[in-house]
Amino acid sequence: MRTQVGIIGAGPAGLTLSLLLHRLGIDNIIIENRSRAYVEARIRAGVLEHWATDLLDELGVGARMRKQGLVHEGIEIRVNGVGRRIDFKSLVNKTITVYGQHEVVKDLIQARLSQGGRIEFEVSDTSVHDLESDKPTIRFKKNGESHEITCDFIAGCDGFHGICRPSVPTGVLTEFERVYPFGWLGILAESPPVNHELIYNNHDRGFSLYAMRAPMITRAYLQCDPDEDAKKWPDEEIWAELKRRLGPEGETRLKTGRIIEKGVTAMRSFVTEPMQYKRLFLAGDAAHIVPPTGAKGMNLATADVLFLSRALEAFYKSNNTALIEGYSKKCLSRIWKAQRFSYFMTTMLHLNPKDSAFDRKRQLAELDYVTSSEAAAKALAENYVGLPID
Ligand code: APR
Ligand code: PHB
Repeated sequence: MRTQVGIIGAGPAGLTLSLLLHRLGIDNIIIENRSRAYVEARIRAGVLEHWATDLLDELGVGARMRKQGLVHEGIEIRVNGVGRRIDFKSLVNKTITVYGQHEVVKDLIQARLSQGGRIEFEVSDTSVHDLESDKPTIRFKKNGESHEITCDFIAGCDGFHGICRPSVPTGVLTEFERVYPFGWLGILAESPPVNHELIYNNHDRGFSLYAMRAPMITRAYLQCDPDEDAKKWPDEEIWAELKRRLGPEGETRLKTGRIIEKGVTAMRSFVTEPMQYKRLFLAGDAAHIVPPTGAKGMNLATADVLFLSRALEAFYKSNNTALIEGYSKKCLSRIWKAQRFSYFMTTMLHLNPKDSAFDRKRQLAELDYVTSSEAAAKALAENYVGLPID
């Protein structure tokens, strides 16, 4: 097999890249080790920055998102039961759209397949070769048979646990990491959301987040230990804790329902530099991880592949390699700002077991400042809705 760009991974990064390249007339193939059903059901976060919704429209995959997605003009930040709203619309005149990542993935797969695009699901033994040559290759197995794709470029969109990043020779990449001493116990439930917008809640018992996926579907999270076993949390105990952390009105305001999904996510910040080795590019979670508190994961993955598509366009249309050489720098400037914001939100909202009484007082002052100073609220809003993309 032969293609211009071989894409490894059918998550938001790989799929969006495939559509972007197709629009530019650049041939590509995606290989994915999971099944289509699996990637379409994988529950992840669900916040789209303002510009990302416009990009989905431009790619012709925005229709369902515009119909079913929930447009939010702000968020609430709550401390021990007392909430203050950050009004994005009045502060920065932008909104965000709540639409599950797996719904985006469904729309992208459907669109790419209907264009005649090639996505090979359920492959195994993926490996990349000849990275130093101008014809790098991808090898994989499918249905017991070995295959090889000869490419001009390879896009490593294979997530944090993928094979692309570890295939770069030792010494080329530098990794920057922070692991947090807490995780999130997340639920998806058949119950009406507590609020029409997200509530980020700092509580003496630990952080909680009240979100939603649809008018009758709640998504909620509780701060827990990073290695907590979700099975040890009976459903009633999760609801009781979500009520307690919401504050005095929790009992009346939070309506319980059947829990459809339950899981624990550990939290880390991670960046690899550079995001490129010769003709192999890393994009999305393959290159960086953010803690979910800033809701930046899917948006960053989308920004990376937008920049990558522009670089490949310049190469194919005018033989210009400047954008290809500048790929890492261009992405990392946005990534580090998203890391800064995600770190800020994470440390401001969670209880860190290592914090002193001084740290807690400082944290409460920060929450008070951010929710009462227009300048500080504006900075939060500007980052939350997504910094301008150029
Ligand atoms: N061969 C083929 N596919 C692979 C391989 C492999 N060796 N290893 C991993 N994959 C696939 C995974 O099964 C997954 O479908 O690569 C895909 C990577 O997708 P994501 O993990 O969703 O990563 P990305 O597309 O970068 O999107 C980032 O996903 O993890 C969330 O919160 C994160 O919102 C962010 C978004
Ligand atoms: C979610 O809806 O799952 C969600 C929302 C906001 C976040 C993280 C997750 O910051």
